[in-house]
Amino acid sequence: MIEAYQRRCQARVDAALENLFVPPHAELARLYQAMRYSVFNGGKRVRPLLVYAACEALSGAAEDANGAACAVELIHAYSLVHDDLPAMDDDDLRRGKPTTHKAFDEACAILAGDGLQSLAFSVLADPQLNPLGSESGLAMVACLAQAAGPAGMVGGQAIDLGSVGQRLDRQALESMHRHKTGALIEASVRLGALASGKADERSLLALQNYARAIGLAFQVQDDILDVESDTATLGKTQGKDQANDKPTYPALLGLDAAKAYTLELRDLALHALRPFDEAAEPLRELARFIVERRS
Ligand code: IPE
Ligand code: IPE
Ligand code: MG
Ligand code: MG
Ligand code: MG
Repeated sequence: MIEAYQRRCQARVDAALENLFVPPHAELARLYQAMRYSVFNGGKRVRPLLVYAACEALSGAAEDANGAACAVELIHAYSLVHDDLPAMDDDDLRRGKPTTHKAFDEACAILAGDGLQSLAFSVLADPQLNPLGSESGLAMVACLAQAAGPAGMVGGQAIDLGSVGQRLDRQALESMHRHKTGALIEASVRLGALASGKADERSLLALQNYARAIGLAFQVQDDILDVESDTATLGKTQGKDQANDKPTYPALLGLDAAKAYTLELRDLALHALRPFDEAAEPLRELARFIVERRS
């Protein structure tokens, strides 16, 4: 069931993303090609899926969430392009293909990331992709900017890079993960709820509790897969966290305790969804998927 839902949502967001990479002049062809390369290279589209699933949990129409779904994936794609740069994690492989700075060059990858980030906000401000009107559009821009910026993902990446070779305690590690990965996952759920046009304070709070739990679980599972998966399955070089001396959950707690923690977080997320009916089933399935995924 989740596979069919995933395929449907992936096709929907990919169709909306497809129109965004038309270079306005021939001189910009290479930059646009690098941006397109960074987006259309086989990502799971988990964040757009969360946008659509949150919108549908509140009985919203999925088409109204296309802008939010594109915007979170564009921010995510930019974060990966920059995360892979030599100055950051220095990775050569992403989604089974050469990283953007390898397929193009470093300057082009930096600019492609910058371009993807700006594009995310243009999409949220586009009334065709984000039809609810300016008040909700503004709330969405504020939500995404907060999650992507220095108090969110960018801040988390700064903590990550500052922590290389250090032994963080559990609280500091959790904070790093909540910033670098959890923030954008929380924003995905909130943006989906806002796109439904039917969000009230109670449902927003329940969805926030759900998203906080899966946001952390997502990065703990990413850490686990870096240890126990293989490069072909992951589409990125296995074992890089240890090679780069990054603090991770498996390094701090051991593999078994890290796995047990993902299940605890999944259960917390499912508990938060108790007030919702079967319209929230895709959100429940996604919570299970996030801790069971193999790539
Ligand atoms: C990888 O994210 C980076 C993290 C934030 C952990 P995903 O596992 O969602 O990567 P793609 O988009 O499917 O490649
Ligand atoms: C990435 O964390 C978080 C981002 C904000 C990009 P990782 O560095 O662990 O992601 P991967 O393992 O390279 O995908
Ligand atoms: Mg990183
Ligand atoms: Mg990385
Ligand atoms: Mg990782």
